[in-house]
Amino acid sequence: MNNFTLNTPDYNIKQMVDVYEPSEDTFLFIDALEADLAFIQARKPTYMLEIGSGSGVITTALGSHLSLTCFTTDINIKACNATRDTGLLNKVQVEPVCMDLASHFRPFLFDILIFNPPYVVTDSEEIIGTGLSRAWAGGIDGREIIDKLLPQVKNILSESGIFYLLLLKENKPDEVAAILEKFGFQHKIIKEKKILGEYLYIVRFIKKQTSKP
Ligand SMILES: C[S@@+](CC[C@H](N)C(=O)[O-])C[C@H]1O[C@@H](n2cnc3c(N)ncnc32)[C@H](O)[C@@H]1O
Repeated sequence: MNNFTLNTPDYNIKQMVDVYEPSEDTFLFIDALEADLAFIQARKPTYMLEIGSGSGVITTALGSHLSLTCFTTDINIKACNATRDTGLLNKVQVEPVCMDLASHFRPFLFDILIFNPPYVVTDSEEIIGTGLSRAWAGGIDGREIIDKLLPQVKNILSESGIFYLLLLKENKPDEVAAILEKFGFQHKIIKEKKILGEYLYIVRFIKKQTSKP
């Protein structure tokens, strides 16, 4: 296998009822990770966590390429089952856990954190239940779920950890970067693309290096 190619794993969409089907945003995320593989490998990651794994194709793509211990979470139990099945289909061991964001993992530290969040601008009331609508309903500015995670990132990422986040233009990526900067992170846009009328960014965050006295 080419050392810098991430293949889209096999997945069985017929078995994924009420689970977010891998879409253009999913594939853009895989492309971004592929573009950043050299950076990822240089940091020698061991533990990864994908929040909101849906079908599990992003974690499986990375887990089949790198030697990682892969954890995922999703608020939708059917997505957790789908993630497990996609892992098994591709012979990648993935440990899915049904939970809100990464709430029960603290204080565990991950080297890679991935989130393709529910980013669509909706009424706050649309963020309800644990079913398929949770895949896209993002509330005000599409930011309500994203903003819940931001203060947690520094507590679940290792010192050399990398956080990849997908954002829509309407999510105000500059504001998200400014919030994470206050928590000690610097950012870089790895990919951006207009897809079906949505302008999407995949942003990489790492902890700012403090110079030693
Ligand atoms: C846009 S979909 C992305 C799915 C998959 N990662 C992909 O890229 O195809 C967002 C996913 O996040 C999950 N989700 C939404 N809110 C969540 C929360 N608070 N905690 C965990 N998962 C959540 C949804 O159930 C859904 O599977």
